[in-house]
Amino acid sequence: SHSLAVLISGSGSNLQALIDAIEHQGLPARIDLVLSNRADAGGLARAKSAGLATAVIDHRDHDSRESFDQAMVDRLAPLAPDTVVLAGFMRILTPVFVRAFSDRLLNIHPSLLPKYPGLHTHRRALDAGDSQHGCSIHFVTEELDGGPLIAQAPVPVLPNDHEETLSKRVQQAEHRLYPDVVRWRAERRLFLTANGVQLDDRLLPPTGLV
Ligand code: GAR
Repeated sequence: SHSLAVLISGSGSNLQALIDAIEHQGLPARIDLVLSNRADAGGLARAKSAGLATAVIDHRDHDSRESFDQAMVDRLAPLAPDTVVLAGFMRILTPVFVRAFSDRLLNIHPSLLPKYPGLHTHRRALDAGDSQHGCSIHFVTEELDGGPLIAQAPVPVLPNDHEETLSKRVQQAEHRLYPDVVRWRAERRLFLTANGVQLDDRLLPPTGLV
């Protein structure tokens, strides 16, 4: 079956959505490693509960981003993952990592890209008075949060929203969208080609599927 490596830094709710989809919705994939840059990431407990292999590579043990990225590549490359899934992984990646897994590296980002790359996306959407917010899944390239879009899920911004309520609504959308996109990969239907993102027989528009 399709082999995944999942990279996390935090609570791992998106990791959990993938675990659940594999266990209960027939997602034809297996998670060969959950890799965290933080030993205290909540997602590591979720991984262990599901019987998954885990590893921690602490970025603070490396004096450059490249050295950290190389250590991750060295850990992952022998597994030859079909897809590397960034799921709340909060380190900026260098070409050392991106090139090692180009065409098979996915990220989820909590905004409707190209709006709000980077951090504090929910606060920024609220401050801007947006009526819509959401999440995006894209292939990762060397440009931060800038790779070709695969799919986006919009959610409404409601009148009394604050960061907490809005982020919760976005996360619910994330937990539906990421397993769907990973399923397309596992079913060998989704590829990054020289012409763009291809799903089945069609080339997706620059926004991805919305
Ligand atoms: C998710 O909302 C994800 O979109 C975001 O971190 C959260 C992780 O939650 N990712 C980024 O901000 C990437 N720059 P989780 O650990 O519960 O899956």
